[in-house]
Amino acid sequence: MLLAIPNVLTSAQVADARRLLEQAAWIDGKATAGHQGARVKDNQQLAVDDPTARQIGSVILQALSANPLFMSAALPLHILPPMFNRYSGGQTFGTHVDGSIRIVPGTGHRIRTDLSCTLFFAEPEEYDGGELIIEDTYGAKSVKLPAGHMILYPSTSLHQVTPVTRGTRLCSFFWLQSMIRADTQRSMLFDMDVAIQRLGAEKPDHPSVVQLTGVYHNLLRLWAEM
Ligand code: NI
Repeated sequence: MLLAIPNVLTSAQVADARRLLEQAAWIDGKATAGHQGARVKDNQQLAVDDPTARQIGSVILQALSANPLFMSAALPLHILPPMFNRYSGGQTFGTHVDGSIRIVPGTGHRIRTDLSCTLFFAEPEEYDGGELIIEDTYGAKSVKLPAGHMILYPSTSLHQVTPVTRGTRLCSFFWLQSMIRADTQRSMLFDMDVAIQRLGAEKPDHPSVVQLTGVYHNLLRLWAEM
């Protein structure tokens, strides 16, 4: 499932973050690329232990924990600390797949990457190119969202960032392990939750609301891994 989550951050939070990011210590993005990724990756990043990354990262994680759309779609178990990248002057990240297992920095704890997140910090009109192209079973989707919005997509997908030919593309990117490993099961739970919410809003006293809510939780109980 590919899902845009609007307004994860407010425009004030985006502006604050951009002020901090402008003064941060950017390094070559190859530092964290795997063997295949390093050949096609040309961008800049903040180091995993960068204090600016930590500071803005905690704002992002706090916002997401209070975002019902994100919680329902991702059913997160562990979220890796948000990282930050930027592209300008023709920089690009060619087709690659994200590593399946990542170590939580400073802990040695391993998490499985089920979902990838990209949160945009620049408005689409501030730069040319820089589309995130995600290939799934329905074909390739091109994603370029307003600042403060986020795309959630399966980490199993092949994806790329097209060359940024004008301006600067500034994003946060991170991964999460979901309580529901399989995208098909997670998508069904999300669709069911959306339908229950809609039914509950339109017919709050209908007995099917509580019955379907029970089915939702029983499926979650059956499938969740923790
Ligand atoms: Ni990637």
